Amino acid sequence: MVADIALPRLAKIGAGAITELGSVVAQLGIRRPVLVTDRYLDETGQAERLVKILQAEGADTAVFSGAVPDPTASSLTAGLDVVRGHDADGVIGFGGGSPMDTAKALAVLSANGGSISEYRAPGSYAGPALPVVAVPTTAGSGSDSTQFTVITDDETDEKMLCPGLSFLPIAIVVDFELTLSMPPRLTADTGVDALTHAIEAYVSRRASPFSDALALAAMTAISRHLRRAYADGADREARESMMLAATQAGMAFSNSSVALVHGMSRPIGGHFHVAHGLSNAMLLPAVTKFSVDAAVDRYADCAKAMGVVDDTTASRAAADALVDELTQLCADVEVPTPGSYGIDRAQWEDRLVTMADQALASGSPANNPRVPTHGEIVTLYREIFERP
Ligand SMILES: [Fe+2]
Repeated sequence: MVADIALPRLAKIGAGAITELGSVVAQLGIRRPVLVTDRYLDETGQAERLVKILQAEGADTAVFSGAVPDPTASSLTAGLDVVRGHDADGVIGFGGGSPMDTAKALAVLSANGGSISEYRAPGSYAGPALPVVAVPTTAGSGSDSTQFTVITDDETDEKMLCPGLSFLPIAIVVDFELTLSMPPRLTADTGVDALTHAIEAYVSRRASPFSDALALAAMTAISRHLRRAYADGADREARESMMLAATQAGMAFSNSSVALVHGMSRPIGGHFHVAHGLSNAMLLPAVTKFSVDAAVDRYADCAKAMGVVDDTTASRAAADALVDELTQLCADVEVPTPGSYGIDRAQWEDRLVTMADQALASGSPANNPRVPTHGEIVTLYREIFERP
């Protein structure tokens, strides 16, 4: 098998890496970047800090702070105006997954035009685009290192997965000190998202030895440090480990794929506005239990990488122990069910068939070790409503 591998051209990783953003941008020849971020990072002065770092290296920077959670196609319009009005030659995505995904979409649309829905899977876009530099502020989405963006269709509430090399950032600046102020809920949700990326990349039908190594490294780190980072946000060792793991897990799934958890998670986010990491967490134990028989050895490897069992444990027992550990982990970081989160049961029932349609249409379930039928997806959605 020939593996297709695509990674950012340059990465700066470590405490204080953010101070090198200006030189990274200058090195790439970008003189007129637009910094794409959200209102929170703008209002707290963090965007301004980056603008100063960029200006010190001579970059004439404009700011678009209108990136919204779960970015919609319509939310891109104002950003496009800023990118075009500034005559930008690059886009910097600064924030969690939503600002980075917004930046990627703007980089493609500003250079190639059209509507973002034209770039959705199963298409793949590798044509003209502005270069993207990604600066994550959460340890989770991995968007800094993936060749995807996820944008919601305003009319159907569908989260559209848009793949292709042009959505892959050219450079990344990964500074865990930006995550020290993340509250526990965000720490947990984004951390479980990263763990899901790693596990799904590893068990995916599109896995390769290259993606495997990144995925296993991420699983080991997250299992050691997620609970610690959740309990004490100032734990620098845990934060540093989680930040690197999130980027490694992003690289892993970008070069393998995600699978059924993500396929089913996007419709929950689209219809019920549950944060991406949290909707993954609601699904992870049940979907793993559903899938485990189809790839016992692979799931056993995950359990071993996470230190749930030792290397001498038989695969069957190890795989079962993984399901138990994921259930326990989600309980430890207080992941709600859709029901306890406050979603109305009648509305949930009402949307199940559409959600299953959209999950299948994304293509992600086809990469799962056990490929579900439409009916099985509906059953899983019903199962997780009240219990993980
Ligand atoms: Fe994700």
